[in-house]
Amino acid sequence: GSAKSSKSSGSSGSSGATASGALAFDKDDYTELTTTITTDDGDVEVKYHFYKSITYVTKPVDETYQSLNVSVPVEIAGKAVDATNAPILFANAVGGYMPSSVAEATGVGGGGMTGMPGGGTDTGTGSGTGTGSGTGTGSGSGEVESGGNGQLDQRGQSVSNAQLALAAGYVVVEPGARGRTLVDSDGRYYGVAPAAIVDLKAAVRYVRFNKGRIPGDTDRIVSSGTSAGGALSALLGASGDSPLYDAHLKEIGAADASDAIFASGDWCPITDLEHADMAYEWNWGANKLASGSLVDRTVSKELTAAFADYQASLKLKAKGLGTLTVRNLDEYLLKTFLEPSATKYLAALSDADRTTYLASNTFITWSGGRAAFSWADFLTHVGARKKDAPAFDAFDLSSGENNLFGKGTTKARHFTLYSLRHEGSASARLDGDLPETLKLMNPMPFLAKANPGRARHWWIRVGTKDSDTSLTVVGNLAARLENLGDDVDAAMYWDGGHGANEDAADFIKWIAKVTD
Ligand code: DHB
Repeated sequence: GSAKSSKSSGSSGSSGATASGALAFDKDDYTELTTTITTDDGDVEVKYHFYKSITYVTKPVDETYQSLNVSVPVEIAGKAVDATNAPILFANAVGGYMPSSVAEATGVGGGGMTGMPGGGTDTGTGSGTGTGSGTGTGSGSGEVESGGNGQLDQRGQSVSNAQLALAAGYVVVEPGARGRTLVDSDGRYYGVAPAAIVDLKAAVRYVRFNKGRIPGDTDRIVSSGTSAGGALSALLGASGDSPLYDAHLKEIGAADASDAIFASGDWCPITDLEHADMAYEWNWGANKLASGSLVDRTVSKELTAAFADYQASLKLKAKGLGTLTVRNLDEYLLKTFLEPSATKYLAALSDADRTTYLASNTFITWSGGRAAFSWADFLTHVGARKKDAPAFDAFDLSSGENNLFGKGTTKARHFTLYSLRHEGSASARLDGDLPETLKLMNPMPFLAKANPGRARHWWIRVGTKDSDTSLTVVGNLAARLENLGDDVDAAMYWDGGHGANEDAADFIKWIAKVTD
């Protein structure tokens, strides 16, 4: 909606001290709603207080996006509950790095918002979104289009996490955030990087600033998101309290409080964008497009070669393999994620269904209750890759990420030297602001420096058929966190497509465990 666009003209950069007073959460300003949430234990009726469309900064650029909703359970299955000290699920619904607004939501998880996959009615009774658990595979590549001009900006699966969290007695905060396509009347792109992460951090600061006023334990914020939202959730977790964002946060009048979060839940994070093209070719370079054609072999090979250097530079280690390089990365992915996920999938099938699956997937050796296969056969099994080469920094500037790294009135820019130089001179340099902007969007450098403000608990998931990015993105993120000694629960969903969330109920239980 264009309804409430209040552009602030020129920021004064004044101190947030007085401004923060305006950010006090009003615990009496809610509507009481009732909704029925489908959980593994059946349908649960939840009565909750819904705080709607709270602007979380004092100098918003666009309140439609820079606002959040809060849902606080007060009665679950007929029993009164007190969420004063409950964990807080901070569920962003960003998709495609697009703008994400909760301003029109009529309840937790969006309620009856239009454009919401599976969004319920606005009566507050029954959502029809399902629980997201056990929905199986292939929610698929068609569900959210990005790369170019995807219009979808809300994620059905964040809905199920949010609803299940509410049914578990947690407080749910749903923040909106600016996104890449927003443009003002002067033609300036005001939602490009790093706007979305700055907004999410401002929303976290709002929550923490309101400790004692807002229900929930503000020291137990658990972030969640999927795809671009998963990337931002990982970035929130990695970059907690980094001073690198201070000027941006000051500019929008963020509360003077910590933006560190306790835990980070990240589904198919589309992150490490400046290395994603090379990673993609290393992973999916041999796979054809859905059209049946191979991508440009020279481009694919050059990017694959560049990935070897990047991978080595990370100096990640994995048990039994030593330093992770392109020589053992396939083995790492196979043993740590792919075979275990196939094993779990097959073990859960009936004998008859497993026999059928194995009969049509003869590349899998099933022995002693374990699945085994080769990396090459796995790639063949996945089949068509989703993206052309380069997957992210498109030569013609047509990708969503080109737009994400736009600036001012420039809608789209190159953000890798490879694509920049492919299109221009061999000595071309990235625009001066880009190295810093890329850093503000990437969790990996924060983790490489062991940022002390980072989250220490991580839930990371991706489907094995998700070729929206390289599987090494999750592999390397998990390895980095393991190497830091953080608490990591990372796994893949066998045959899961883009956006898959097949164990939402387990995530909710995990929150209880890590926040206990
Ligand atoms: C998303 C998907 C992509 O393929 C991408 O490049 C960026 C974001 C998404 O679904 O959010």
